[in-house]
Amino acid sequence: MTPSGTTSGTAPGRAPSAPDGSAPWAAAWELLLPAARAPARARGRTLREALREAVRSGRLAAGTRLPSSRELAADLGVSRGLVTEAYEQLTAEGYLRADRGAGTWVSGAVRAAHPRAHDLAPRPSPAAHAGFLPGAPDLSLFPRAAWAAAHRAVLAELPHHSLGYPDPRGLPRLRVALAGLLARRRGVVADPERIVVVSGVAQAITLLGGVLHARGVRAVGVEDPGSPEHGGLYASLGISAVPLPLDEDGLAVGPLDASRVRAVVTTPAHQFPSGIAYSARRRAELLHWARSVDGLVIEDDYDGDFRYDRAPVGALQGLDPERVAYTGSVSKSLAPGLRLGWLLVPEAFAEEVAERKRTMDLGHPVLDQALLARFVERGDYDRHLRRCQRAYRERRDTLVAALAEHFPGTEVSGIAAGLHVIARLPDRYGPRDRFLEQAADRVAVRPLGAYGTVADEAVRLVLGYAHLSPSRIREGVRALAAVTRA
Ligand SMILES: Cc1ncc(COP(=O)(O)O)c(C=O)c1O
Repeated sequence: MTPSGTTSGTAPGRAPSAPDGSAPWAAAWELLLPAARAPARARGRTLREALREAVRSGRLAAGTRLPSSRELAADLGVSRGLVTEAYEQLTAEGYLRADRGAGTWVSGAVRAAHPRAHDLAPRPSPAAHAGFLPGAPDLSLFPRAAWAAAHRAVLAELPHHSLGYPDPRGLPRLRVALAGLLARRRGVVADPERIVVVSGVAQAITLLGGVLHARGVRAVGVEDPGSPEHGGLYASLGISAVPLPLDEDGLAVGPLDASRVRAVVTTPAHQFPSGIAYSARRRAELLHWARSVDGLVIEDDYDGDFRYDRAPVGALQGLDPERVAYTGSVSKSLAPGLRLGWLLVPEAFAEEVAERKRTMDLGHPVLDQALLARFVERGDYDRHLRRCQRAYRERRDTLVAALAEHFPGTEVSGIAAGLHVIARLPDRYGPRDRFLEQAADRVAVRPLGAYGTVADEAVRLVLGYAHLSPSRIREGVRALAAVTRA
């Protein structure tokens, strides 16, 4: 890996777990996940039961080779000893068979008593499980136990009166907790009075867009390539999104100047989707532009928490909180289904944004807010981020190694942060459209061109990896490589 966050090369990755390039146990892996999350005392037993059931039901067919105990333990996040014990026990019972040196296999001795509904349904190909579509965290890492404990505690401690309509900006307790968190982790200038709790970045952009529209703004700049959400949200407000090109430092200043827009939405910490971090020079230029046109920069810090090789790049908002509206959410850190996020507004927008939030939904759900406040206050949020960070770094490294092994010469960029990378395959894998057409049957992948203007015909893939276990990542890249052999 080079310091610029780009890597290329031919270093081989780890040996594939199945010699024929497929990994038939991958579908059954899903069945084992709940067992892996069982309380520590019961984990060994539930893992053995889940494995037994997977064999009995036919989800793990006779003759299937299982992953090594080390590999499965890593995927499930359990100790290797537990997996070894389960393999040994089921081998003794006749469900599995171990060939010394050649691995562990599902034995042919077991017959399902009667077919279950899922046995009759067509089984998806292994590759169908290895979708690399970007944007999703690993939802199986959601900290259910800590969240449930916080829920119980919050219900017990909240006084009756706090169940009334909340301050439209959010519970003071949560705004204080978020101010501390964001100042510490992201370097923002965080005044709890300027924070509005929202249902996500999408609502933050909608609220700001509403204020801008009321002030007569009819065009807002968006990054090209960029998040399709940004343009869609503005369109729904009657504001046109003006695509603005990027260069290697971030949003290109010349076209921004020429566009005559006075508001622009950006992703400076980890540009979506290209993965670049805006340079210090470009950050300064962007702020200079905002001051010179009396404009506004909207900073979408959608995945700023995940940074692998060096300290996170601080938020742009920290450099000029009166020119930058900063927004983020728990969608990448905890789960998008929680619909919880935050918006830090410049003083000139604070009152109007709060009033719009009030008329939009009379405030954010109180229980959810109190829960997140407690989660942050007690360090559970940081703990969870550390856990995800470790898992995602390993997955990123796995993806980079697998690409080097199966697509030698591929240039991988945007690897320093976030939940996805950009892989630019060598020209011999093109042309782009043919590659994508063939890949569509095997693995879900999205080209960079799906997010905006891309000049050439090279195959550039936006590969989300955080939601996939290392073995699924290897399996997915092998399946993609099969496309090129087909
Ligand atoms: C760049 C970017 N910003 C914002 C969002 C939406 O975020 P939220 O769930 O916080 O509304 C997404 C969704 O994937 C995204 O990719």
